[in-house]
Amino acid sequence: MPTRQFDQLLSASIRHGGLTQAQMAQLLEFKLFGNPKGFLLLEELAIGDVPPTPASRADLSKPDDTSERLLLQATALLGEPIGYVQESGGCIVNNFFPQQTQSRAATSDSFDTELDLHTENAFHAVQPDYLLLLCLRQDPAAEAITYIASAERILERMTYQDQLFFLNEPYNFLSDYGASEKNQRIDINKHQTVLYGDPDAPFIRFDPQFMVAYSDRAQHALERLRGIAWDVVEPVRMRKGDLLVIDNRRTAHARSPFTANFDGCDRWMQRTFATSNLRFYTERLGKQSRIFELVTEL
Ligand SMILES: [Fe+2]
Repeated sequence: MPTRQFDQLLSASIRHGGLTQAQMAQLLEFKLFGNPKGFLLLEELAIGDVPPTPASRADLSKPDDTSERLLLQATALLGEPIGYVQESGGCIVNNFFPQQTQSRAATSDSFDTELDLHTENAFHAVQPDYLLLLCLRQDPAAEAITYIASAERILERMTYQDQLFFLNEPYNFLSDYGASEKNQRIDINKHQTVLYGDPDAPFIRFDPQFMVAYSDRAQHALERLRGIAWDVVEPVRMRKGDLLVIDNRRTAHARSPFTANFDGCDRWMQRTFATSNLRFYTERLGKQSRIFELVTEL
């Protein structure tokens, strides 16, 4: 979508997004104060007419933009909506539904591959601060579950020594962005710690499938952390009209496998990213845009 057209949609979303005053307050409360779970779930929101789930991206057509306006209004309350060139061709509102050709690949479009807990774009210098997922259609068998593990819950289970370790030990975070496909493991020389920020209330980033440890000790610590994260996950089974807002600097998330039938009734999700720091990125990169290429350093 061209920038001008998107800005018009964003402007319309802010004015007519459909959120109630109370829901807006919940979003702002979450943004300003957070919560121990690291996510907020708003249920059964009005999303307008949803056509049958398309079979492929080429078939994607959605005349009623109620859900897009809702999602963008929520996104704008949390920060600036952003997109990535490598994700859905730089679209700000991403659509995810099962596609037959990609069923085996562990991408966001897949439906039969269990994804491991991960922080979104942990390797990217422009990491999304929030991830918003809006369910347009639940999978008919209601198998799909989103799991969220928060830093607060993880830290409660971690020893002080482990906390210190993860505040100081760099791991090599690999990029999954290739020129042609996702889920490659590309070394971009991105060495960073798992815990960062204020040691008393640290942010967390991890993506075990895309991290390289420098020692056996570091590898074992990472495996321990992954185990703890799975122990503390909160499962969310999203239904039509549910909006899940995830604090991407204080959580890791994953999704269960689910069945697809390719009959127009499959699961359909919309996703956006919000950043709290767009002006800082503009300053550092010398370029003003909502859509980012791979940025390794700022
Ligand atoms: Fe993800």
